[in-house]
Amino acid sequence: MATQDDNLLKKVISHAKEYGFVFPSSEIYDGLSAVYDYGQNGVELKNNIKEYWWKFMTQTQENIVGLDSAIFMHPTIWKASGHVDAFNDPMVDNKDSKKRYRADVLVEDAIGKLEDKIEKEVEKAAKRFGETFDANMFKSTNGRVVEYQKKIDEANMRLKNAMTNGNMDEMRQLIVDLEVADPISGTRNWTEVRQFNLMFSTEMGSVAEDTNKIYLRPETAQGIFVNFLNVQKTGRMKIPFGIAQIGKAFRNEIVARQFIFRMREFEQMEMQFFVKPGEEMQWYEFWKAKRMKWHQTLGLGSENYRYHDHLNLAHYANAACDIQFNFPMGFKELEGIHSRTDFDLKSHEKFSGKKLQYFDSETNQNYVPYVVETSVGLDRMFLSVLSSAYKEEKLAAAEGKEEGNERVVLTIPPALAPNKVAILPLMKKDGLPEKALAILNDFKHDFRCYYEDKDTIGRRYRRMDAIGTPFCVTVDHQTLQDDTVTVRDRDTMKQERISIQNLKSQIQDAVSMANLLKKI
Ligand code: GAP
Repeated sequence: MATQDDNLLKKVISHAKEYGFVFPSSEIYDGLSAVYDYGQNGVELKNNIKEYWWKFMTQTQENIVGLDSAIFMHPTIWKASGHVDAFNDPMVDNKDSKKRYRADVLVEDAIGKLEDKIEKEVEKAAKRFGETFDANMFKSTNGRVVEYQKKIDEANMRLKNAMTNGNMDEMRQLIVDLEVADPISGTRNWTEVRQFNLMFSTEMGSVAEDTNKIYLRPETAQGIFVNFLNVQKTGRMKIPFGIAQIGKAFRNEIVARQFIFRMREFEQMEMQFFVKPGEEMQWYEFWKAKRMKWHQTLGLGSENYRYHDHLNLAHYANAACDIQFNFPMGFKELEGIHSRTDFDLKSHEKFSGKKLQYFDSETNQNYVPYVVETSVGLDRMFLSVLSSAYKEEKLAAAEGKEEGNERVVLTIPPALAPNKVAILPLMKKDGLPEKALAILNDFKHDFRCYYEDKDTIGRRYRRMDAIGTPFCVTVDHQTLQDDTVTVRDRDTMKQERISIQNLKSQIQDAVSMANLLKKI
């Protein structure tokens, strides 16, 4: 079961602000709820995550190409996609606390609590029975566990039916039956459950009578669907092939909290993979495995990822799962992988009156392709990297000599780190800054470098640890004599003396995006 570390999330939020990663939007006007700005280090980390995704998709996969479609699109697109009618979240208010919640999330949390209870029973029994313990046998025979499981299955079934049929009375009844209490007021005094459409809208056209309601896209995927034939024809693409896109999406989330996990303006990295009808399940499995490998290659810990199959399928899907990450708030959705059938293309055919079909020259037949989608939130990727990289370390006496006896370090994967190397003259005299700047001028075209000559070297190391710079290169008096420098490794804090001649290739090797991509 998910572990929760509210304290860690708070620390990550304040560290992100203090070190120029993420700022609350419009802060001098007291902020804007669930909207954030990325600072000088944040934007670099974000761009590097984008590069890792973009190059994987459009460079290492020979049958995937990119696209950058507009945020504004014809309003009928959102009718055809089902978003106008069905992109709703059920919301419910607690009458005492006046707080608003997503009704389905309250139910899922209640189911999660029942799952926790089962885990606790299993843990207790495992201790009692020792090595001979058979967890599966215990789960299927222990009276209390069987009872909890029955409740879970029933609740899941009712939730699925209520969501599919849009039955909000049943949703409320489920909240009542599961005895869900408001975490703030502690009461069970709930309003009716109502559907709430998540799309933002605005008007296009300068003359009032001319106005036309248009939507800010809630997903980037539709820009890919409506350009499917443009790309296929001009790129002479053969099925199976994919179109990848990174871009902003907007959702008027009912409950937007947990920092950049759930925002109202966010970025998605989506890829639609067009396949022959009937082959979608094989490609769905293929992309499930590929995407998991992409995540795990970052080295944030394989145990921090897991699949979660969707019980309540969206209106367009015939199979769907999430890749969840162990965020400070527990395991939560990081990426969605969806088998979207031919729903979108068929629907756009119907609403636009234009054919969106692929001509298969081998069988001499036209067909509407099926689609397997991978969709990952860039901001959630950012949070996964930042929260798992954040470490508070107590240092051994010898290490502590650098500066103080503890440090905060971001062990960001080197290829994603905002700066790859800090170049630090030991002192601001004797020609050391000039020598350091000469190294910087040589390196700056290859990777992002940071230069600093103020303060003790120990303090400068700490500042570099805090923004996740993988290497610190120190230029000292010996450098002037033999062209060697010390290189300090962020994670081990070990220092080695190497010649300037070998420095660039050694750093390049460790921070290279290409090397990371090769491991996938
Ligand atoms: N085109 C499919 C689609 O949009 P989704 O599961 O609604 O599917 C995909 O969203 C991903 O976008 C999620 O896995 C998540 O990483 C990210 N995402 C969705 N809503 C978000 C929000 N409000 N804030 C940040 N990221 C969000």
